[in-house]
Amino acid sequence: MTPAPPPTVPPGGPDLDLAARAAEADLPTGAAKTALVRSMFDTIAPRYDLVNRLMTFGLDVRWRKQSARALGLPAGSVVLDLACGTGDFLTILDVAGLRPFGMDLSWGMLAANRTGAPLAQVDGAALPLVDGAVDGITCGYALRNFTGLAQVFAEFGRVVRPGGRLALLEVAEPDQGLLRLGDRVWFRHVVPLIGGLLSDRAAYRYLPRSTAYLPPTAELRAMLLTAGFSTVNHRALSGGLSQLITATRQGRP
Ligand SMILES: C[S@@+](CC[C@H](N)C(=O)[O-])C[C@H]1O[C@@H](n2cnc3c(N)ncnc32)[C@H](O)[C@@H]1O
Repeated sequence: MTPAPPPTVPPGGPDLDLAARAAEADLPTGAAKTALVRSMFDTIAPRYDLVNRLMTFGLDVRWRKQSARALGLPAGSVVLDLACGTGDFLTILDVAGLRPFGMDLSWGMLAANRTGAPLAQVDGAALPLVDGAVDGITCGYALRNFTGLAQVFAEFGRVVRPGGRLALLEVAEPDQGLLRLGDRVWFRHVVPLIGGLLSDRAAYRYLPRSTAYLPPTAELRAMLLTAGFSTVNHRALSGGLSQLITATRQGRP
């Protein structure tokens, strides 16, 4: 059998494509995006967990548990939860016997984090960690929020030890017609309404729109390969309402 050709990265690097997608959807890029994302999460932090549970019917908890299992790391492994927010992933990783710590850009989200795990306010594009410092990284619903996704992935490749693992959880759009329609109506119309009543309307209008920043699966895969990961695996969760990407850091453990 002929091996499949390697996935291609757009000329000029994947982030060029990202900028084009953002411009098309009239979304900010660069420093303006970072400032918007930080202040938005600072604002919605106090009610973030409540709105999350309501808008996913509690399925987000199940998806994080599936992601933690998919890491496949033994008890005692050191795991960075990047963009940890209020700490849902940290709790799940801790219960699974791993040794998690969290980093996030938003002080408001970190202040709402009551997990007891070590935390730091950090931009994922420049992790204050030595090479090969961690056995694994989890990252929930943040890929579309990063300003330079390729730079964040490069940092993942640097700080995950050879043989270490990644589990990245993100929103997705279901393929199946009716589910896709329901998902669109829910996220574009109902979620901004719920978010507006309980938290901040502007933020919950922006969040569904921010999916425009998300590269398609093949591009994400290519970016992770470029960052030094192999066995990149993509899984649709709950009919495609969320997506889970796992990968292994290349090199001899
Ligand atoms: C949708 S929330 C997800 C929080 C948490 N991971 C979860 O699963 O509920 C996205 C998080 O990404 C964080 N974030 C956005 N840009 C970031 C960056 N450049 N570096 C680190 N964290 C960032 C936000 O502050 C926010 O807490």
